[in-house]
Amino acid sequence: MRAVVVRRFGGPEVLEFAEVPVPSPGPGQVRVKVAAAGVNPVDAGTRSGFLTEAGIVPPREVLGIGWDVAGTVDAVGDGVAGFAIGDSVIGVQDRPSAALGTYAEFVVLDVDALAAAPRTASPAEAATLPLNGLTAVQALALLDLPPGATVLVTGAAGAVGGYAVTLAKARGFRVVAVAGPADETVVQGFGAEIFVPRGDFLADRVRAVIPGGVDAVLDTALLGLEALDAVTNGGRFVVFAAGAAPIPLRGIKVEHVWIRADGAALAGLVDLVDDGTLALRVADTLPLTEAVKAHERLAAGGLRGRLVLIS
Ligand SMILES: NC(=O)c1ccc[n+]([C@@H]2O[C@H](COP(=O)([O-])OP(=O)(O)OC[C@H]3O[C@@H](n4cnc5c(N)ncnc54)[C@H](OP(=O)(O)O)[C@@H]3O)[C@@H](O)[C@H]2O)c1
Repeated sequence: MRAVVVRRFGGPEVLEFAEVPVPSPGPGQVRVKVAAAGVNPVDAGTRSGFLTEAGIVPPREVLGIGWDVAGTVDAVGDGVAGFAIGDSVIGVQDRPSAALGTYAEFVVLDVDALAAAPRTASPAEAATLPLNGLTAVQALALLDLPPGATVLVTGAAGAVGGYAVTLAKARGFRVVAVAGPADETVVQGFGAEIFVPRGDFLADRVRAVIPGGVDAVLDTALLGLEALDAVTNGGRFVVFAAGAAPIPLRGIKVEHVWIRADGAALAGLVDLVDDGTLALRVADTLPLTEAVKAHERLAAGGLRGRLVLIS
């Protein structure tokens, strides 16, 4: 089968289209025939070597790439219950050091990394959900705050940020969204109550509308100290990338979220897609053979929604 692999770190051009053996599912695993694979910022980190420098991926001669997948169950290993050949599924490959990622014609995942695909979404749309939806859920789970608390989301127009806004609102939080001025309507549509445009003196501008500061920040835009300054004393701050944690000033609890596969939580997100609560956004689709072009477009920035590779 064909798959995209990384043999040397660098720009988009290092992505290699290779012929590799079709993987076999072991006990408790499922092989998915990939229909669509989301292209995420973390994939650029795999390709560039950032994840290896950060100690997240050990050095390897050949690395697979890609986390998000939508497709069809093609083979099941011993002991698998709940999924059968032909089922439409979505899932996430949460081991960035795996020999194969989701940029491939087939991928093997643990069965508990899968959920039934949304009924109301195309494979391309569905492939935008697992990584970033689960990250938003798992970040919110770190907050331990009561309904009515104020939660600031930076990067609110982005993939994680957009889901975080909607899910925070659904948990009864008051959401303050930070994004570019052109994205105000979009993030209000996700459920933000208050919009603060990105830019200088962010904390002062947040405190002007929330006196004393917000109870928590989900810092998906990796602003660090600029966003920490907007948090009340003793509040919460969630970090989304290696090296992006601010110093925990004023008794603020600073914690990293690291996504983990969770089929049950993913099934909950699928329900929210099917009932119209969560919006899935595809910037564009490209064939798997154009992974290099997809990474070039990701690096150029300005995308709204996710690029998706179609097998
Ligand atoms: N730790 C984990 O488990 C985990 C899981 C998933 C993702 N992540 C990380 O989370 C981060 C966000 O991922 P994503 O997929 O949501 O990325 P994304 O879709 O590119 O969204 C990031 C958003 O942040 C915005 N932004 C950039 N600078 C900003 C600023 N100064 N103020 C306000 N907004 C700003 C971007 O706007 P523009 O496009 O206009 O620049 C974009 O809308 C990435 O670093 C990703 O690697 C971590």
